[in-house]
Amino acid sequence: MNTIYRKIDADNIDKEVIKEAADIIRSGGLVAFPTETVYGLGGDALNPGSSAKIYEAKGRPSDNPLIVHIAEFDSIYRIADSIPQAAEKLAKKYWPGPLTIILKKKPVVPDATTGGLDTVAIRFPSHPVARELIRESGGYIAAPSANISGRPSPTTGRHVTEDMDGRIDMIMDSGSCDIGLESTIVDFTSEIPMMLRPGYVNEKMLTDVLGQVEKDPAVFGETLTGQRPKAPGMKYRHYAPKGTLAIVSGDTEKVISYIAGRTDKKTDGTRIAVLASTTNTGRYPGADLVLDTGDIDNETAIASRLYDNLRRCDEENIDEIYSEEFNTPCLGQAIMNRLIKAAGHNIIKV
Ligand code: TXA
Ligand code: MG
Repeated sequence: MNTIYRKIDADNIDKEVIKEAADIIRSGGLVAFPTETVYGLGGDALNPGSSAKIYEAKGRPSDNPLIVHIAEFDSIYRIADSIPQAAEKLAKKYWPGPLTIILKKKPVVPDATTGGLDTVAIRFPSHPVARELIRESGGYIAAPSANISGRPSPTTGRHVTEDMDGRIDMIMDSGSCDIGLESTIVDFTSEIPMMLRPGYVNEKMLTDVLGQVEKDPAVFGETLTGQRPKAPGMKYRHYAPKGTLAIVSGDTEKVISYIAGRTDKKTDGTRIAVLASTTNTGRYPGADLVLDTGDIDNETAIASRLYDNLRRCDEENIDEIYSEEFNTPCLGQAIMNRLIKAAGHNIIKV
């Protein structure tokens, strides 16, 4: 397939490009588009054929449901069956923005979009290109992250092209995504709302609005529980670079000396990369690649660069990656959730 590639400026949106993309979505095709979290791979959410194409393009198991993206609040009433007050309150506070809510679905949403579940995940993104595209395409775009299943999510147009060129109809490139980590997911189909995936809208922001919030133990537990996460996608190996990734946890100086010891000892041609916060980048002279994650006090930078850093390791044919820990105050839960998944729970305590 020949993929149309278009640059689009979020501050000065070319309506012709939006129209071209919307025509593709309306006729059952797929378009990758920017959001404030990560790039999405969009198709008509109410067309089962489009959802089937999304699974195929991503190489994603079809039991893993898609998020339906809307561009005005009232669009939820057509697709969601019962909307608890708490859900409405939270959505009104953080929409448009990096929040996904799960509600009972109406029959108009095909099983192909929800992976056979009777619930639907809904998000109203704030990115102007996403909003224009959704509006112009009929109001409902199903979109997972626009990566090949298992790879780190795309946060630049280049990442999308790497994974999707030749597999979808069109890519809209609007540069880097602001947040760089996927939306927070909150399930409102049980008595007490439950956070299924951490994101920019963090636990405190949720409890401030909702009072009580539960956390999916399969996602937030200290150790692997063997339980099935409620968001089916959270059970898959994810975000993973090709090399093995270990997170080194403990007192900063001990972490540095452990990692530096690993990078100094290699004699067999193993290529080693380190994910280091800015102040520590000079501490690993033996590493083949030191990736500056951003300053430890600048957690938005750490979040927005994370997936690019993981992809860089693949580009540089890295065999082993060691990462420092990033337990930062607001985004730490989301950053560490992605990093731990990328590492397959490989955490070295020092
Ligand atoms: O920020 C985001 O949410 C991005 C951008 C493109 O909007 N999208 C995204 O989609 O991250 P995806 O497909 O990569 O992740 C969606 C997650 C998966 O873990 C999926 O299992 C879960 O949401 N999910 C979707 N519908 C669900 C439902 N009805 N019940 C439980 N989990 C659901
Ligand atoms: Mg994804």
